[in-house]
Amino acid sequence: MEKKIAVIRGDGIGPEIIGEAVAVLDAVAALYGHTFTYDEVIMGGEACNRWGDPLPPEMLQKCLDSDSVLLGAVGGPKWNALPAEKRPEKGLLRLRSGMEVFSNNRPAKIWPQLADASPLRPEIVARGIDFIIVRELTGGIYFGEHRTDHAGEIKAVDVMAYTESEIERIGRIGFETARKRDKRLCSVEKSNVLDCSRLWKAVMHRLAEEYPDVELTDMLVDNCAMQIVKDPAQFDVIVTENMFGDILSDEASMITGSIGMIPSSSLGEGTRGLYEPIHGSAPDIAGKDIANPTGAILAAAMMLRYSFDLEREASCIERAVSSVLDAGYRTADILPAGEAGASCKKAGCRDMGRLIIEHLTKE
Ligand code: IPM
Ligand code: MG
Repeated sequence: MEKKIAVIRGDGIGPEIIGEAVAVLDAVAALYGHTFTYDEVIMGGEACNRWGDPLPPEMLQKCLDSDSVLLGAVGGPKWNALPAEKRPEKGLLRLRSGMEVFSNNRPAKIWPQLADASPLRPEIVARGIDFIIVRELTGGIYFGEHRTDHAGEIKAVDVMAYTESEIERIGRIGFETARKRDKRLCSVEKSNVLDCSRLWKAVMHRLAEEYPDVELTDMLVDNCAMQIVKDPAQFDVIVTENMFGDILSDEASMITGSIGMIPSSSLGEGTRGLYEPIHGSAPDIAGKDIANPTGAILAAAMMLRYSFDLEREASCIERAVSSVLDAGYRTADILPAGEAGASCKKAGCRDMGRLIIEHLTKE
């Protein structure tokens, strides 16, 4: 198979982790006889530095012309003072919206080898953590009107809006995702306060009639934040709007041990997707070869599975990650403190990439 992948290395630790993810993709391509070519796209802080625009139109076009997009992370304190429209994060939002990838899938699954890295009590972890957050990605408050009025007292306005069809299409992804798993879908909203959430809930219940095999429950977002730490085993698939999904997915990743391990996929109607680890650019550890590239490497695996339909190749990468963890290698973020850590081998970003490549085996 031949595929053209747009690669956005980004800022902070982005270039380091994506370097490892691309090396893993090349190794998998060699193992299974595929050819992946890469088109470098500049987005985020580096694009702000070069052009004063975090995502110039020709950079978006390169992504639209590719078979799929792999992204590290963007942003950092260097660009904090820029106006909202020129910030690196705005490039990411424009990319998501320009690619029309409205459905963001963020798995929260604990690797058994990393159970001690979870901040939750062992008896809670033992009940299992394996759920998916389906986050709406191109609507809601992220894409509503943003304005700051300076007449009189300064007033800032951010508008949250959802149309019925925007809710319906992400709702369907939620139901379909649940159908392929344990058939339990939890719709998360704030219908005791927000109109958007009341519409959300009504649409989910209308859709439920088409998916009688899936059990639908409703949960208010504040309660959900609490339930994720109290009893994460209760969740199979969560479907929620953009900002709630942003917040809950950070919380969900933390209980699995480290945000550094979690990949995500964003898809729209077609097969071209945007794949990224869910962590940020971590400028404090950039360039030190200590970042965990596993989230980015697993994002590359998700790309093989969901955009290129290469299931064997995707599971080959996931098995290699598992073997490297079995062999005791840990980057700093997943290295247990004290005695438990003594039996582990500390690995840097480059080590981790190389080890995962060395552990790739065909089934
Ligand atoms: C994420 C990030 C982004 C978001 C930022 C960088 C704009 O936090 O992907 O979760 O809020 O969506
Ligand atoms: Mg986030």
